[in-house]
Amino acid sequence: MTDSRPSAIRHPPSAIFLVGFMGCGKTTVGRLLAERLARRFIDLDDWIVQRAGKSIARIFAEDGEEHFRRLESELLREVVKEPDAVISLGGGAFVSEANRRVVKECGVSVWLDCSLDVILKRLEGASDRPLNTSPERLRDLLESRLPSYSQVDVRIDANQAAPTNLVEEIITQLRRAIDYHMMIGEVNES
Ligand code: S3P
Repeated sequence: MTDSRPSAIRHPPSAIFLVGFMGCGKTTVGRLLAERLARRFIDLDDWIVQRAGKSIARIFAEDGEEHFRRLESELLREVVKEPDAVISLGGGAFVSEANRRVVKECGVSVWLDCSLDVILKRLEGASDRPLNTSPERLRDLLESRLPSYSQVDVRIDANQAAPTNLVEEIITQLRRAIDYHMMIGEVNES
């Protein structure tokens, strides 16, 4: 596990964003984390489905991926207005620089980092994700997104641990990151 020190964590961070590829457990872990911290859980994909009035698969099929990405960015700007939430982002949301800026401004980001092998196992037979068309496509997509994912504040190895353990790990890392930021802030101020 890397010790990724954030450059500019706001204290206290208002929103906690879960970032990562399809199948890395953002929704499961996000729900548990929200429960543990007595926060509201928001799944950005759910907001998109609600707003569009149709499933993500249908949005992709009928309106195209570009339209989906526009909705994703638009609704990200809406969900960040919800106070003290844990927000799970779809696997492609953190790829856009504009979206990353919104996330940085509104809270702290946590990447649930999973290897391709684990992702492929978890997504095997799952037909609800329009981009899950072949293992090769998933491999290329994951590889192309790693530089974006690595810009998060905190990286968590999400390959093996049970969701409840991941929640504790996230809390520990966030505490450390926030303490570190405060310490650096104090040093800079003196
Ligand atoms: C996508 C991931 C999906 C969903 C959409 C596109 C992506 O969310 O937003 O199918 O581009 O990786 P999950 O990561 O929650 O599966």
